[in-house]
Amino acid sequence: MNDLQTIGDGTGRRNDEPPVVVAVDGPAGSGKSSVSRAVARALGYGYLDTGAAYRALAWDLLDRSIDPASAGDVIDELERFDFRIGTDPDEYFVRVRTENVTDAIREPRVTGVVSLVARIPEVRQWLNERFRHILTATEFDGIVAEGRDITTVVAPDAPVRILLTASEEARMARRSKELTGESAAVVGEALRSRDRADSRVVDFMNAADGVITVDSTHLDFDRTVDAIVDVVHSRSSTSPAH
Ligand code: DC
Repeated sequence: MNDLQTIGDGTGRRNDEPPVVVAVDGPAGSGKSSVSRAVARALGYGYLDTGAAYRALAWDLLDRSIDPASAGDVIDELERFDFRIGTDPDEYFVRVRTENVTDAIREPRVTGVVSLVARIPEVRQWLNERFRHILTATEFDGIVAEGRDITTVVAPDAPVRILLTASEEARMARRSKELTGESAAVVGEALRSRDRADSRVVDFMNAADGVITVDSTHLDFDRTVDAIVDVVHSRSSTSPAH
């Protein structure tokens, strides 16, 4: 089945309002995945990691020995691309067919080709339709969705839209902590080249109109989460729900 799985808390939404969508964009190494997940947990919301869907597709192509650089072959594969992503921040998982690929999609061999897949417009359109469905169908009262184009393309009408940034230096330092064993120079070059490749597709370094920038360069993890939770509280009390 070509679908993302939404795992609710079993009770359904507590009210009849549409879910509050919190859209978070940002460059690699800004901490947006772990921060967004912690924000979802703090608010009792769901969490949608859109990058994981691009990574799952890249993993699937490598697994089937399909060349990720061949747009035609990648587009053909979409028809049978069978994946699921958990949206409960406490039960996060990524599956392709019957295989749990939660960790495998973070491997360098996947990271190395995912930009090739993400730059194909048909792939983006196909995934975006599925993301939008998740945002409206979630059983949570709200959902934190993160990715490179969430505030601008996937959910431009979300009541809360945030660009999470950090200086290149801070992003590199965080990445090299995550990837022990890689030298700072290797991590820095990999990060810069991914930012370069990805920014050809979407502009995630500059906040679009109505998007609030949260700069985490000088904030630790907990303070970054608090800063975003504060934005959500202030925006959702002043904006009409979408
Ligand atoms: O955030 P991440 O590193 O897991 O993203 C994986 C890749 O997918 C990366 O090349 C950026 C791309 N991506 C995208 O183009 N649009 C999104 N909404 C999410 C990720």
